Amino acid sequence: DADLTPGPLVAELGLTYDDVLLQPGETDVIPSEVDTTSRLTRGISLKVPIVSAAMDTVTEARMAIAMARIGGLGILHRNLSIEDQAYQVDLVKRTQTGMISNPVTIGPDATLEDLDELCGRYRVSGLPVVDESEHLLGIITNRDLRFTPVAEWATTRVRDVMTPMPLITGKVGISHDEATALLRQHKRERLPLIDDQGRLRGLITVKDFVKSEQFPHASKDGDGRLLVGAAVGYFGEAWQRATTLIEAGVDVLVVDTAHGHARLLLEMVERIKSDPATRHTQVIGGNIATRAGAQALIDAGVDAVKVGVGPGSICTTRIVAGVGVPQVTAIHNASLACRPAGVPLIGDGGLQYSGDIAKALVAGADTVMVGSLLAGCEESPGELVFINGKQFKAYRGMGSLGAMSSRGKKSYSKDRYFQADVSSDDKIVPEGIEGQVAYRGPVGAVTHQLIGGLHQSMFYVGAPTIPDLQARGRFVRITAAGLRESHPHDISGIVEAPNYTVKP
Ligand code: XMP
Repeated sequence: DADLTPGPLVAELGLTYDDVLLQPGETDVIPSEVDTTSRLTRGISLKVPIVSAAMDTVTEARMAIAMARIGGLGILHRNLSIEDQAYQVDLVKRTQTGMISNPVTIGPDATLEDLDELCGRYRVSGLPVVDESEHLLGIITNRDLRFTPVAEWATTRVRDVMTPMPLITGKVGISHDEATALLRQHKRERLPLIDDQGRLRGLITVKDFVKSEQFPHASKDGDGRLLVGAAVGYFGEAWQRATTLIEAGVDVLVVDTAHGHARLLLEMVERIKSDPATRHTQVIGGNIATRAGAQALIDAGVDAVKVGVGPGSICTTRIVAGVGVPQVTAIHNASLACRPAGVPLIGDGGLQYSGDIAKALVAGADTVMVGSLLAGCEESPGELVFINGKQFKAYRGMGSLGAMSSRGKKSYSKDRYFQADVSSDDKIVPEGIEGQVAYRGPVGAVTHQLIGGLHQSMFYVGAPTIPDLQARGRFVRITAAGLRESHPHDISGIVEAPNYTVKP
């Protein structure tokens, strides 16, 4: 006769951002002088600890470029073909760099029509012309096109219109100052770099030089190219996707699922981190929301753990499946495994205001991933929509019906929710919703407020650096009355501020 008496009810307390505040500490920190550098992965640090979400209404190349320029990073979503995603990686890696080490080129026998197509595709205004062995033959720009009628573009060859050698060129390894002097002296926009055999080895453009001065915190690789991440799955075409993205130059792969404490995902991480062709690439695994989940990812070899099950603004996982952990507790519990192992933690989803960034970092995160806060930016994919005269942009969960169903094109998003085997759209069980967020203007303005808010947090806590903030930050738990007191109250007709919106 087994004793069937139930044990005591066990339910750990789960806290989220709105349940806590940071206590002010003694300070001599000036907000504008803090250092927000933090580790994204074991091998990559960012000057701004903010990453844009791998969602098809948040991060494609334009967003990834904007995020890397301000010192953060973008993770390209994976709801598109392998070729399209690799092309997006390529676009980011070729943009705004001190020097382009692998410039797009054209052959002398290509037509002006080919040239126009290439320039459009890579959003550049001119290309170096090379032979099959990469020897520099000349340079061709939009200006050269202007003197040939469009009707003749299909039949006119690049060699007949280009500016041929000798050109003003530099040697590989030329310094920033020497290159600037050459460009200025000869009033040129582009400086091709060649080796001793006359083969093209790089390209410096005036535009890139100006940009690199304009974005002093930009996240760059060893060659000065912008950093970029991309999401992959864990089965089927995932391996091919991962290797293609690595060939295209991706810096970070995110093995991206709604439940990262799963055998197939752990095996994918192990494979990437052990195969000689892929193991040098940084790998983020997720999402998990427990200490055991974090430990499993660490044991599989990840370079960072991503935390968040159900906190996202468009998520319905907690409602549909009844599963999740409020985000501050999830981050804290996962950090119990991450900190001793020296593996950085990304707090993903649920951030509503700039103040939540510091709360995530004090709870145990090293960086945060945001979706809704950036979905309304000019650089996110999708057009502006007007509703009652106000401007919005579409935002949807990757587990929403729209993202997981085919609706005329293949969905690559279903396996994120382990529903790849569901063949018909009407059998999908969505874990997210679709809607709109208010249009917020360019990423630079939005992140200025997010980063500025973090600077203020660090000033109040008395922390000049992120590790100081993590060590010194102390929470106070608040009640519903405390939350009401925190928001503006007893006033009507609130005018929106750039960092505070009144919720509908
Ligand atoms: P925020 O709150 O920044 O959250 O908008 C973005 C994060 O939400 C996750 N995500 C989802 N979670 N169903 C979910 O349960 C979904 O459809 C969904 N889509 C995105 C993801 O981690 C993202 O970074």
